[in-house]
Amino acid sequence: MLVLGIETSCDETGIALYDSGRGLLAHVLHSQVDEHAVYGGVVPEIASRDHVRKWVSLTRQCARDAGKQLDQIDAVAYTVGPGLAGALFTGAVAGRMLAWSLGARALGVHHMEAHLLAPMLEDDPPQYPFVCLLVSGGHTQLVRVDGIGRYKLLGDTLDDAAGEAFDKTAKMLGLGYPGGPKLAAIAEQGEDKKFVFARPMTNRPGLDFSFSGLKTAAMTAFLSVDKDPHAVADIAAAFQDAVVDTLTIKCQRALRQEKLTRLVVAGGVASNKNLRSALAAMLEKMDGRLCCPRLEFCTDNGAMIAYAGALRLQAGQTSGKQVDIRPRWPLAEMSPPQ
Ligand code: KG4
Ligand code: ZN
Repeated sequence: MLVLGIETSCDETGIALYDSGRGLLAHVLHSQVDEHAVYGGVVPEIASRDHVRKWVSLTRQCARDAGKQLDQIDAVAYTVGPGLAGALFTGAVAGRMLAWSLGARALGVHHMEAHLLAPMLEDDPPQYPFVCLLVSGGHTQLVRVDGIGRYKLLGDTLDDAAGEAFDKTAKMLGLGYPGGPKLAAIAEQGEDKKFVFARPMTNRPGLDFSFSGLKTAAMTAFLSVDKDPHAVADIAAAFQDAVVDTLTIKCQRALRQEKLTRLVVAGGVASNKNLRSALAAMLEKMDGRLCCPRLEFCTDNGAMIAYAGALRLQAGQTSGKQVDIRPRWPLAEMSPPQ
């Protein structure tokens, strides 16, 4: 089955072709970073308009790269949530319309399920069951995964998501947008332990997170120093250390609680180098295994949408003719394909 994946939930237009027999054939991505950078963050209306402008040429390019004609596509999978309503709507309308015009099947995909399954696109994918740390711009969740659609939420953030905390802190430190990668880059030049911030909610039981206090701690430190670039780098390093340590402690706790030794980490923040090495070191001590998507499949992309869609389409699931989007869609509401 040849599946076209369309991702438009936020500020990246991702298109991919996945063949259930041969694997991923091609994927292309257009990032809107330049369009949003002048505003210091994602502007939803600009995001929607840009998806509309780009999706057709990206789809053509993807088909060319894969050596396929559009009429060979058996099904179209597109993100329907969670995400920005307008942006989701552009991809859902495009996907549904393309499927209709090709006489292909159509399926709306859950963006976070797609992130969670992204490591399955790598060689030697993880076996079920595993614990998954989902860390993106809108989510920080620990999930026990027993199979596709079999998710148990173990922990969630009470306020900001980890990626959101990276973005807001970066903005406050004057590092601009996109905050996560910029803060991570400058943190490399920071001096270790010049500042030390608390590891929120690690000194009490439970698997929930809270990152908004860290933002305030970084702000207080920032106001206490003359704005020299070294101090900014030191604060960035301390902030990143605190987030990485907190996530690592909670992942270890979740694995112990579930008596599992396999951890998947997915979503944009999973591309953070320090997080990946801290989790790898923790799992080595536990004699466990860390599975991460390749860097380009941590952040938003079409490949994960095509893949997650293909799994459900193969099991017989299809969406109706109506275009429905779900900007808020808890992962725990997902069920196995019927
Ligand atoms: O998964 P994603 O591309 O979009 C959402 O579904 O939200 O994640 C984007 C988030 C942003 O908050 C971004 O700042 C963060 O991932 N991010 C990073 C890094 N790369 C992206 N955070 C920390 N370190 C990074 N290297
Ligand atoms: Zn995402």
